[in-house]
Amino acid sequence: MISIDRISASGFLNDNEYTQALEKAESAFDMVVNGSGKGSEWLGWRRILASPNDAELDELAGYAAEIRSKADIFIVCGIGGSYTGAMAIIKALNPVFKLNGPEIIYAGHHMSGKYLKELIEYLKEPKSDGAKKSVYLNVISKSGTTLETALAFRMLRDWMHGFYEDANKRISATTGPEGGVLNKIIEAEGYKKYVIPDDVGGRFSVLTPVGLLPIAVAGIDIQTLFYGAVTEFNESEKDRADILAYAATRYALLNKGYAIDVIGSFEPELMGFVAWIQQLIGESEGKEGKGLYPAIAGYSTDLHSVGQLIQEGQRNIMETLLVVDQPISDTTVAGGDESDTDQLNYLSGRLFHEINRSALNGTVEAHTAGGVPVVKIIIQKLNAQQLGRLIYFYEMFTAVYVYMLGVNPFNQPGVEDYKKAMYRLLGKN
Ligand code: PA5
Repeated sequence: MISIDRISASGFLNDNEYTQALEKAESAFDMVVNGSGKGSEWLGWRRILASPNDAELDELAGYAAEIRSKADIFIVCGIGGSYTGAMAIIKALNPVFKLNGPEIIYAGHHMSGKYLKELIEYLKEPKSDGAKKSVYLNVISKSGTTLETALAFRMLRDWMHGFYEDANKRISATTGPEGGVLNKIIEAEGYKKYVIPDDVGGRFSVLTPVGLLPIAVAGIDIQTLFYGAVTEFNESEKDRADILAYAATRYALLNKGYAIDVIGSFEPELMGFVAWIQQLIGESEGKEGKGLYPAIAGYSTDLHSVGQLIQEGQRNIMETLLVVDQPISDTTVAGGDESDTDQLNYLSGRLFHEINRSALNGTVEAHTAGGVPVVKIIIQKLNAQQLGRLIYFYEMFTAVYVYMLGVNPFNQPGVEDYKKAMYRLLGKN
């Protein structure tokens, strides 16, 4: 199971504060399980794990294998919950420098004309042997109307239809079951379609075709990822202790005036996952004047940046660190020579994971002493099974913790405000 270590946070709460929060967390967990809380019509992220659809997993893996065999580039066109989950897993598990299949490119996640122009120029450039690049695209939008995604899709599909005779075979779409502009386009063009179930919201959708297709195209075993989540789901229904402890700690600290949770990791591969957590928690809890701001930090890099503020700035910061227990791959520090000019011989032969672990432990010690409560969320290894577990752990934690705040975790009414103002300024009817 995913485990938590809250020892470094426990000294910031008295027994009463923690016990009361724990009782509240217990009731919130029951509300999720019983479907008795706000927004319970959006609990499909649990339903899909309770009765896995193996046929869909197989079909997705099959289509992804076909794309992998034909594509040089695969474009994931989506924003918010429609792309953060895929990016989280792909960044965590794919090699850092070497391509492991098609190059994965994200689009539709902002409105930069420069980005789109340069992207299309890059797609048009022939390969080193003079042949055309083979581009495939998956557009992902549950509503089918999100402007960032819709605009990028218009530009990219226009280009693809002009560039390839079989463009309609290269484009797939993942959207809501019916209705909306995107469904009309899919019908008119005959694009392959995947459905986001009605009862699964965007940021809880990584284990539906939203995340699974791009993840499979990246060469990651989606069955293992999915069943990792199923295992965590089943185990945490029987033993909720870690989810409750994390939710209670975060809730009690919020009540004590903590305003920011810096979510970070000493594993650079996990920074996409940290961004997924930021979106999941931030869009779920930030309502009705409530919520801890989920900031993100990548360590040890950011110890030379915002680390100063975390150590000595305003004392309203808590920290959550994602920790990987054992490395999948590592290297030892080179031996150096007898002169020890760079004075690093004391580290010769030691594993980087061990050195990184000392940086982690030293940081926890320093931050705790400086007044920052730290919670560690621990996975055994950076692999698909453990990340599947971590996805469910965070989905369930988010639902439980946000119910403790008394708000609906599954909607995002505030997102409409910028849209209304933007559409008015753009002159939309
Ligand atoms: O979590 C959510 O619901 C949002 O972040 C959405 O995923 C995001 O706004 C994109 O919406 P859509 O998939 O409808 O384009």
